Amino acid sequence: MFSFFKDKNKDADIKLSDIKLPEHIGIIMDGNGRWAKKRALPRSAGHTAGAKTFRTITRYCSNIGIKYLTVYAFSTENWKRPEEEVKALMSLFKSYLEEAIRDFKDDDIVVRFIGDTSAFSDELQALIEENQTMSADRTGMVLNIAMNYGSRDEIVRAVKRIAADVKSGRTDIDSIDQKMISDNLYTAGQPDPDLIIRPSGEYRISNFLLWQSAYTEYVIMDDVLWPDFTSEMLDAALIEYARRNRRFGGV
Ligand code: FPP
Repeated sequence: MFSFFKDKNKDADIKLSDIKLPEHIGIIMDGNGRWAKKRALPRSAGHTAGAKTFRTITRYCSNIGIKYLTVYAFSTENWKRPEEEVKALMSLFKSYLEEAIRDFKDDDIVVRFIGDTSAFSDELQALIEENQTMSADRTGMVLNIAMNYGSRDEIVRAVKRIAADVKSGRTDIDSIDQKMISDNLYTAGQPDPDLIIRPSGEYRISNFLLWQSAYTEYVIMDDVLWPDFTSEMLDAALIEYARRNRRFGGV
């Protein structure tokens, strides 16, 4: 548990330059619906506000030198939401893929998508492809946007890919190891997340990076909803992360 408002003063004199930053941060952008409800607005207004926060925090992570950022934008389970909300999210993704994410060019951000994007409209799929191609040669932070992503789904996909390789003789059962599984996930070639931040006080993993987060530090922020999340709060999570003693199962 981590309370930004209760804990913030004790960290007032710690600077980011004094601490070891995580290489890879994951964020579960939770609380958009509650943010809207508190203001008597439709849930879609919460997502619009959350998208603005996504843009600000992505830029901030890139500016402070984070190498990988993975954001959970739409899960394999989110299709169960009311049609109107799903529609609003799709239209938000479209406008962000057309504009905001292209603007990440100035920040040299590499944009990648993780998840089964074949479920999206042709138009959205074309924008996803375009964003990936246009940003592939950049050298800055890698931004993974998880869309129609579910970690169990990702693991099933990896198992099927490996089984197909065994069947065709490209590999054999004895060669299957942890690295082979990691290499068949959407995040292949990337380091595991060091830190996952979840605002809005839910103590759940919600099918996000299950394999990759075996040794990840979690910072759950109780007193903030994603649309209100600020760079100052990210700093507080980074300071909290730096305090943790990571042992990776050792002593
Ligand atoms: C969870 O909050 C949030 C989502 C399911 C959507 C996240 C999407 C964005 C922030 C849009 C921006 C993303 C991009 C890539 C443009 P919730 O709706 O479950 O909130 P609640 O728990 O308060 O109901």
